[in-house]
Amino acid sequence: MTPEPRPNARELLAFYLEAGVDCALMDEPVNRLLDDIAPEPARPPAEPRLVSPQPQPATPRAVPTAAAPALAPDAAILSAREAARTAPSLQALRELLAAFDGCALKATATQLVFADGNPQARIMLVGEAPGREEDIEGLPFVGRSGKLLDRMLASIGLDRSTVYIANVIPWRPPGNRTPTPQETQTCLPFTQRQIELVDPDLLVTLGNPSTQTLLATREGIMKTRGRWVDYDTGSRRIRALPTFHPAYLLRSPSYKRMAWQDLRAIAKALEDLPPKA
Ligand code: URA
Repeated sequence: MTPEPRPNARELLAFYLEAGVDCALMDEPVNRLLDDIAPEPARPPAEPRLVSPQPQPATPRAVPTAAAPALAPDAAILSAREAARTAPSLQALRELLAAFDGCALKATATQLVFADGNPQARIMLVGEAPGREEDIEGLPFVGRSGKLLDRMLASIGLDRSTVYIANVIPWRPPGNRTPTPQETQTCLPFTQRQIELVDPDLLVTLGNPSTQTLLATREGIMKTRGRWVDYDTGSRRIRALPTFHPAYLLRSPSYKRMAWQDLRAIAKALEDLPPKA
């Protein structure tokens, strides 16, 4: 049998890209197999030996060079709470977040993706985390799912001048992987403060991660979508509506019908709002 030709560098890179590996985490490659085959560190002998052991050279190990979060997990969450609480304005919150080192995602992202839209809007939408395009542009929902979100908003007469858009996680997870619970909990105080400062009349959570994180529910989006609940901003209670994430609608267009019902409910709720004082 003829062996398969070895892939060249370009083919390998194309394979990695296809698999979602589209950014380098460290300056040097790490052979993680070494971790599996490295011998256990030598234990002190149970019985005294007659001959003293010669000092052994340490097993060479790859040392990660990417910046690790400077804080322990609990300390990171506490520090996020403390920082977010003190932010007197959205601009101050953005600066605090940009300077915050408690979330490792910051080290691999290109830049902070804070928000887009109108901070005076009566409606705020919150997604999960930036993807590749958002990471490059520094704005939420500018990729394919963002284009669909724009069309969904347009269908009820809204656009980025009449809504405010943010994410639960403001840095792109490498390769668009799902954020870990630790990353989500660390970023959450900033998002909660962002909602409090925008102080919208309506909050729309896009997809499961945003809904479960902000509305503290474990129920899936099939159950939660289209059902209004109360969200406590910290200063007052507002109405919140979970709906499908546009990326999900791109994968499962048959749910667009239900998304349309949610959009109509949002349009109606906006219409029913008393004029702004
Ligand atoms: N998906 C999200 O949840 N947020 C973005 O900003 C882009 C895609």
